[in-house]
Amino acid sequence: MPITIDEGRRLFTITTDHATYQLGVHPLGFLMHYYYGPRTDGTDFSYLPQYRDRGLSPQPADAHDDRTVSCDAMPLEYPCQGSGDFRTVCLRVRRPVEGQDAWGCDLRYAGHRLLDQAPCPDGLPVMARPAGSGRTLQITLRDQEAGVEAVLYYTAYESCDVIARQAVIRNIGADGLTVVKAASAGLDLYQPQPWDALTLYGRWAGERNVQRQRLGHGTFAIGSTRGASSAQHNPFIAVCEPDAGEDHGCCYGLLLVYSGGFSIQAQRDQFDQTRLTMGMDDEGLAAVLAPGGSLTTPQAMLVFSAAGLGAMSRRLHDAIRGFLLPKAPALRPVLLNSWEACYFDIDEKRILTLARQAADLGMDMLVMDDGWFGHRDDDRSSLGDWTADRRKFPDGLSGLSAKIKAMGLKFGLWLEPEMVSMDSDLYRAHPEWVLAVPGRAPHSARDQYVLDMTNPEVAAYLWEKLSRLLAEDGIDYVKWDMNRNITEAWSNTPGRHGALLHDYIKAVYALLQRLTAAFPAVLFEGCAAGGGRFDAGMLACVPQIWCSDDTDPIERLAIQYGTSLAYPACVMTCHVSVSPNHQTGRSTPLTTRGIVAMAGVLGYELDPAALTDRQKDEIRAQVARYRDIAPLMMEGDLYRLTPGPDETELVGWMHVAKDRRRAVVSAVATAVHANAPTAYIRLAGLDPDTMYAIEGRPQPLSGQALMAGGLPLGEVRGDYPAWQLMLTAAGED
Ligand code: GLA
Repeated sequence: MPITIDEGRRLFTITTDHATYQLGVHPLGFLMHYYYGPRTDGTDFSYLPQYRDRGLSPQPADAHDDRTVSCDAMPLEYPCQGSGDFRTVCLRVRRPVEGQDAWGCDLRYAGHRLLDQAPCPDGLPVMARPAGSGRTLQITLRDQEAGVEAVLYYTAYESCDVIARQAVIRNIGADGLTVVKAASAGLDLYQPQPWDALTLYGRWAGERNVQRQRLGHGTFAIGSTRGASSAQHNPFIAVCEPDAGEDHGCCYGLLLVYSGGFSIQAQRDQFDQTRLTMGMDDEGLAAVLAPGGSLTTPQAMLVFSAAGLGAMSRRLHDAIRGFLLPKAPALRPVLLNSWEACYFDIDEKRILTLARQAADLGMDMLVMDDGWFGHRDDDRSSLGDWTADRRKFPDGLSGLSAKIKAMGLKFGLWLEPEMVSMDSDLYRAHPEWVLAVPGRAPHSARDQYVLDMTNPEVAAYLWEKLSRLLAEDGIDYVKWDMNRNITEAWSNTPGRHGALLHDYIKAVYALLQRLTAAFPAVLFEGCAAGGGRFDAGMLACVPQIWCSDDTDPIERLAIQYGTSLAYPACVMTCHVSVSPNHQTGRSTPLTTRGIVAMAGVLGYELDPAALTDRQKDEIRAQVARYRDIAPLMMEGDLYRLTPGPDETELVGWMHVAKDRRRAVVSAVATAVHANAPTAYIRLAGLDPDTMYAIEGRPQPLSGQALMAGGLPLGEVRGDYPAWQLMLTAAGED
């Protein structure tokens, strides 16, 4: 059993394949964190925290002046404001006293149970239930006097070393209770060793760059107050030993299963203890709970690896693929997207020309991006009016899709359902449907407003429009975009203000889940001005997300490298676009563009009419190659072979099939020099005792040789050369 309970000592131990997590109850009822680290069976780690006289830290009254007891110094599972803990906490509540808000509570252990799974997702995406019973530990903490209860859930996913945590905050009798912070998880790394934090920061067209820094005294915080997980910070943090690298060192990975705003804090305290908290954005939170009411936090995935960042990533990848993603084939359709080919300049003739070329190049699907509806000739109008523009498409969408299907292709469509343009029939009919402060015009961004997704009339309108499109117009794929953030957390729906941003994203999930359930054959792709909502919450609803609007392959090296820290290849969509690149003006070889895009779900986003015959042949070969290697790359293990592009001029990675019989090695040189050193790359993840045939090389080599000595790639010449080599175990085809 992955969860064992020592009732006598009130000790709870969660064991996964390579890790152990232990918590227990202090004699005064505080829920203590004892241990999270390499797997050790049968150890009682309650000996680890040291209770010392911390006379200047506060003691609770029931400690009767025992100065060794202070929440300000002890490692705790779910610390709360008001318990004498001056550090960053997991829970902050307010309750009305004499017409004003008083704060604070003091949570103590009140009971535990073993469950088959966390019982209450409350409209939030969560990982699927693991096999076997009794995989979830529920611990209830209570402050009867304050009328608040925190119910904590821990679910063990043994094979991928993940512990999923979630908390439910309940009003158990307060006249009113306002939750202003409720983390999904806290983790006290209380031994005074130094830690590095790795986070993924960015901007539009430059998402998920890796930042690594030592955690000093004070609080390091990232988050999003935008109502979306954001391009600026991803809801992920890795905390690792300062010398940890790809294949060595202890690392903790925390990933939030949530697409709204979030908050992650890492605080090093006066005793050199490091506390991590992760949860939904609390700057935009004041959730009012009536007596009996509750607030469920998003799920947080915690993973531990004693074998470096590479193993941490692979375990997260397994967890996402195994327990989070909706079902989707490993080989997704290779598509041609109209955006960078035509932008808004589309009509039936142009789209059919693109479709014919996509078919000629061996692709599977034509995706019509923005510009097909209302009178949308640029980005200033028509969002919300999800009806084909008859000027451009005289036979409507169904006529167009029938013609595309007759070419043997699938047909995909771009939508941005959460938004409305100021210039649209929908906004003219329902100005009250947008998020806006009464009496004041809301902020616009890209000339659009945000629909109040919590308003049932909005949800009903969108369901009606979108389900009709999907039912009648032969659509095989939807790119669900979201191009701006929320500035006004004001709803016309009564009683919806304090947790509006949270309710908003839950309403998005509800609509997406309803549509994906009703149309299981349609492939949904997430998008938010590129990768502005690239998170595990979305990945519970859609199996793939557009990585970034930056399609420059050299820029993509950094974006995809950072993304791979937490997310597997099969969720990152990557397109080959034209050279020179539209975002950067840089020229790169088609081969390099193909190899970089094949690190995820491959697609194309260019005008084939501008290609030479040789380039067309190369694209046909890329598509065929991708079909061959995609299952391996999407389902296998990722090994990052080099540091990220900021630190090296040769970026390499490889995907290894789970049975280690096949592997694909990829590398890109980002700089060239005269009379330069030979490029080598050392491989990883192979079976040392297997002989591998290497594509294009006469001599087979053992896994051991390839991992110890590596592989010479040869001379680096020309602009951004790239290599992709297939390795096949002797005896395989
Ligand atoms: C966003 C997306 C792009 C494209 C445009 C269309 O920016 O990320 O891929 O779909 O919108 O307006």
